[in-house]
Amino acid sequence: MQRWTVLVFVLVFLFACEQQVEQQPSPRPEPIAIEDIRIGFSMDTLVEDRWIKDRDLFKEAVEALGAEVVIEAANGDDVLQVAQAETLIQSGIDVLVIVPHNAEATAAIVHKAHQAGIKVISYDRLVKNADIDLYVSFDNERVGELQAEAMLQAVPQGNYVFIGGAATDNNAHLLKRGAFRVLQPAIDAGDVRVIYDQWTEDWTPVNARDNMREALEINAHQVDAVIASNDATGGGVQEALAIYGLNGKVPIAGQDADLAGIRRIVAGEQLMTVYKPIRHLSQTAAQLAVMLARGEEVEISSYVNNGKKEVPSVLIEPIAVMRDTIDSTVIQDGYHSYDDVYGN
Ligand code: BGC
Repeated sequence: MQRWTVLVFVLVFLFACEQQVEQQPSPRPEPIAIEDIRIGFSMDTLVEDRWIKDRDLFKEAVEALGAEVVIEAANGDDVLQVAQAETLIQSGIDVLVIVPHNAEATAAIVHKAHQAGIKVISYDRLVKNADIDLYVSFDNERVGELQAEAMLQAVPQGNYVFIGGAATDNNAHLLKRGAFRVLQPAIDAGDVRVIYDQWTEDWTPVNARDNMREALEINAHQVDAVIASNDATGGGVQEALAIYGLNGKVPIAGQDADLAGIRRIVAGEQLMTVYKPIRHLSQTAAQLAVMLARGEEVEISSYVNNGKKEVPSVLIEPIAVMRDTIDSTVIQDGYHSYDDVYGN
């Protein structure tokens, strides 16, 4: 055999071997066992009632699935939240679930998690301008719509005050958009005058109280309705109204179905609140987190734009709660007990 024929044979043989190697299906990585999954939950705050429930119910849901959760809360401090999340990432968690204090500042955490191969779920609040993997929340525009619808029913004409949430929280903007969408026709018709409209730094009752005092002062106490962005700020509004002898005379709308808010509704000091079933939120987030950790395909058909991408999102429907629907909503759901709501 000539030398060049041998060379051709060798080349053909090598090519065939390579083809065979390529045709072998590459072994799929074994999914991580459930009991080995660790989910990091980075929370902004535990101040409002609801976040305690989020913490406990999320832990319960993750553990019910057989995985482990490590929880950190940052007391509303951006720097601390970033540091805590970094520690979680370094500790080898499989997925990071985050409630951002600041919608923009937390983008850095998402980047770091991804560099470490960890997927990120935005929980309740959207992280803006970041490559997050999933967003699980309520329909926050709907929260504002429900507030405004209830308020227009109760006060079709008059001077409205809008006490916004924290400007650094995307939910505060969504709620406001929803509320004003519903109010706009009444504003255009001249029936509703929005005489005060301010954000409330860090959603604190104290800042809301100061805003409400200012609203009353600059409008000669002529206020007919207040839309407060949650029950905590609603509590601040009530304090301010009480100072002017207006407690129970001006309807307030809130959200979260905090026990204090619900009890104000019972006492006739607040018109309504918006209940967001936290158990549903936390269970959904826990299931999705475990799926992401196992590298499973997650099929989600709705998207929310966060400034960087269309984020696959699950948005749960919120529920309006009025005096006559407390029993059939929050009590029936076991969110609050009958005694807590109506007891002394
Ligand atoms: C949440 C509200 C909460 C508020 C203050 C918002 O992002 O959607 O439920 O009351 O933050 O913590």
